[in-house]
Amino acid sequence: MNSRFFWVPLLVFAGFVRKPEAQPLHAQISIDLDRYTGSIDSLIYGNFTEHLGRCIYGGIYDPGSPQSDRFGFRKDVEQAVKDLHVSIIRWPGGNFSSDYHWMDGIGPVAERPKRRDLAWGGIEPNLVGTDEFLQWAARSGVQPYICVNMGTGTLDEAKYWVEYCNGAPGTYYADLRVKNGHPEPYHVRIWGLGNEIDGQWQMGHKDAADYGKFALEAAKLMKWQDTSIRLVASGSSNWGADWMGWNRTVLEYLYPYVDYLSLHYYTGKTGKDHYQFMSSIDDLDRKIKITAGLIQETRMKYHVMHPIYIALDEYNVWYRAFNAQHLEEHYNLEDALVIAEYLNCIIRNAAVVKMANMAQLVNVIAPMMITGDSLWKQTIFFPFQLFATYCHGRSIDAELEAPDHLLPDGKNLPLLDISAVRDDGTHTVALNVVNRSADSSIQTQIRWFGAVLGGPGTAYTVNGKELSDENSLRSRKVGIHTDPVAFSGNSLTYTFPAHSFTMIRIPLVGK
Ligand code: AHR
Repeated sequence: MNSRFFWVPLLVFAGFVRKPEAQPLHAQISIDLDRYTGSIDSLIYGNFTEHLGRCIYGGIYDPGSPQSDRFGFRKDVEQAVKDLHVSIIRWPGGNFSSDYHWMDGIGPVAERPKRRDLAWGGIEPNLVGTDEFLQWAARSGVQPYICVNMGTGTLDEAKYWVEYCNGAPGTYYADLRVKNGHPEPYHVRIWGLGNEIDGQWQMGHKDAADYGKFALEAAKLMKWQDTSIRLVASGSSNWGADWMGWNRTVLEYLYPYVDYLSLHYYTGKTGKDHYQFMSSIDDLDRKIKITAGLIQETRMKYHVMHPIYIALDEYNVWYRAFNAQHLEEHYNLEDALVIAEYLNCIIRNAAVVKMANMAQLVNVIAPMMITGDSLWKQTIFFPFQLFATYCHGRSIDAELEAPDHLLPDGKNLPLLDISAVRDDGTHTVALNVVNRSADSSIQTQIRWFGAVLGGPGTAYTVNGKELSDENSLRSRKVGIHTDPVAFSGNSLTYTFPAHSFTMIRIPLVGK
């Protein structure tokens, strides 16, 4: 026997001979730095806190914890909100908001009623109400966004909530706020006209016309209270056959008063393979474009002068943890890639999506978790953090030629998903790339046209060994890895590793 062949099985057994890597696939990206596709509103880096499970109680508010401040709110959560660069937070729900009576949550805490929470079960103690939430938002450096009760609530409740928050002293509810310790108006700018009223699971569910009529009256009274507020109509969350009809009817009623139409979009992997899961955001992309068309239709028909934008005010991966698990979803690398795809999609549609809120902030389908007195960061924290830190300014056009994966329904899924941003404030460009391939790296020729790139560039990568890698209190398998990027002139060849998200950020030197 030839002794060379004798050694090979032994070496393989001992792990010395590695399986040869598959040849990298190839792709091309061309970016036109002067071809803007929309200005990016920083409100797309929003989040959401609902009275649900351990999001408020045991999440942002945890008076027994040594991590908490004198108000009972956790300092580690506040710090993580700042690290995540969250711009705006929606509150108090969600489904919870459709039976929330805000006057239960003001005034002396000992006198506040306890109520059954019919949305999620359990008892709502009303320890965190309007003043506590708004003061926490200010300390955390985020803009508040209040969703009013259009389920079991009344027109008066909606009208007086605006007065309580924003009115100058001298009227009953503004004076009540003063009495409760806050003389200055809070100036809450963004208000939601209810939550998911299109869903039969919603308390006070209505058909589109009934919602439109009721919300129109609420909208009038709220804007007459404070003309500076911006209103969000409850758009589609129930993606049945008539979701477009819902949006069209709601717009027909509400166009004189609303500034945004909301969409809620969750995705999950149940019943799908990796590539089908990675393709789910293409469906969101189509729904955004169709909704943008419906908005244009209404604006054209009624000669509406003011813009109406889309607020994607609930989105996330959510398919494992429901009520019994208090929605405490544990995220893996694959989910983080889907979050990067959501953000790519939002950036590509920056001309019309002007607010987006990841649902939710802490513990409940969330980027951060609390275990005892410690906070740890889930995989989905990191793509959000990169986008919210670095992707401001304008969305720019990026052309992609990439290999496809054939999906079971016969569609071709490009293995790369991209977006690009030019920020004239920091004089940088950022290219965001998800490599959807489960096993192949993709060597990509990238060319920028229209401005001169300076140096040095940086690549921020979110990746792990396996798509199933999760973080926990004790181990961080997925985080951000930073590398310098070398390029010549305005082009660069970069190999995106399998199952990764990469942001390449390069300074501009000028024209
Ligand atoms: O975020 C969890 C829930 O999902 C919200 O309460 C509801 O609006 C949506 O269905």
